[in-house]
Order: sequence, then C-alpha cells, then structure tokens
Amino acid sequence: MKARIDAILQREQAEYLDALLPPSDALLQEMEAYAREHKTPIADREVALFLEITARTTNTRRILEIGMAIGYSVIHFARGMNGNGIVVTVEPDNEMIGTAEKFIERAGYTNHVRVERGRALDVLPRLRETFDLIFIDALKEEYAEYLELSLPLLRAGGVVLADNLLWGGQVATVERNEKQKTSTEAIREFNRRFVNHPQLRAVVLSVGDGLGYAVKL
Ligand SMILES: C[S@@+](CC[C@H](N)C(=O)[O-])C[C@H]1O[C@@H](n2cnc3c(N)ncnc32)[C@H](O)[C@@H]1O
Repeated sequence: MKARIDAILQREQAEYLDALLPPSDALLQEMEAYAREHKTPIADREVALFLEITARTTNTRRILEIGMAIGYSVIHFARGMNGNGIVVTVEPDNEMIGTAEKFIERAGYTNHVRVERGRALDVLPRLRETFDLIFIDALKEEYAEYLELSLPLLRAGGVVLADNLLWGGQVATVERNEKQKTSTEAIREFNRRFVNHPQLRAVVLSVGDGLGYAVKL
C-alpha cells in the first residue's frame, strides 16, 4: 500500500525513473527517433522493457498483439522469447506494416513474427490458436471487445497486458481534450471490467501511461 496517494508518481520521481533506464541500442534508438518524427505512438521505453521482462519470466512462446505500429513492442517481445517463439500481431495500416517489417527484419525476427492484416474486430474472430500472452494496444474504444474476443484464445495461466489505461491521466480527472472524451470513457469502463473480470486476476500498474497486467484463471 502506498504511504500517501501521491507518494509515487510525482514529477521528480517519474523523471528520476526515466533517467535511470539503460540506453536503448542503436536499432531501438532509430525506431524511437522515427516514431517521434512521424508522430507514431509506440510504447514508453519502460513499458517496452516490462513487455520484454514479462515474456522472459513467463516462459512465453506464443504472443498475440493487437496494434503493431512500427514493431517496437514486437521486437521487445521477440527478444524476451530469445528468438524461440512467435508474435502474431494485428495491424490494418499498410504503411505501418511496411515500416515494421523492415525494422523486424533488421532485428533478425522475420521468422518469428506473423502479421495479421486488418482490423482486430474482423481478425480476432477468425483466429484458431492458443496464446501464452495477449497485448492490447489499438483503438481505446474497442479494448473491451478485444478482451472478450481474445480471452478464449489465451491459455489458463496466460497473461493479459493492456497499454494506456491511465490515458494521459485523463481517466482519473477530466478529459483535457474534448476529442478524447469517448476514448477516455471507454478506458474507464474497460478498467472497471478488467479488474473485476471473473476470468482474470488483474491490476492497473502506474507504469508508463498505465499498464494493465492480468493472469487468466
Ligand atoms: C499505439 S499503436 C501500437 C504501438 C505498438 N504496440 C508499440 O508499442 O510499439 C496502435 C496501433 O493500432 C493500429 N490500429 C488502429 N486501428 C486498429 C484496429 N481496428 N485493429 C488493430 N489495430 C489497429 C494503429 O494503426 C496503430 O499502429
């Protein structure tokens, strides 16, 4: 339990933790620069490390990702599996897929990644395979549906991760951005369902932009 509700994530602590992270290698730095330049949303560095650590500690071999962008999280997952598993990732944007494929090839993981082209709500119902870990990171308004569609594919004891559950802090206060009103309310509803889900033991961690972390019962 926190000593005080505001004892952890004050600006100084957040900046300290950020500065403490080891530097990214050359390929990841290039991806981070590409994302900044093209305003492509990729995982926070500490979230990406958390993904890699989780893949390593849970002896994961099969990962389902919803929302790939340029492949930054995919490469962390593949590294976490030591090149032994597969990441199946759902992405509808052809330009993102083209860019991601080049980065993934340079990272040496082409044979460990399968891209399912299309929107998750179309792709997920046609998947017939089992996963050890699911990572939800696409449209916030659809998170609840992604969870329900992907949970039957997750083995018991498998892990669910979901990014941006604090949504820039907006879920706990008021929307700063009128355009994000719908997505903020959707994330609030998702968070309530996620932590009370009868098939999960789940928490929302204050890592990065808020990271959901759950195990399937
Ligand atoms: C936040 S980014 C993913 C970041 C990536 N997981 C990472 O950490 O590097 C969200 C991605 O979801 C994709 N996306 C948008 N609509 C989608 C949909 N309906 N189904 C699946 N992915 C979608 C976007 O094109 C974008 O690339």
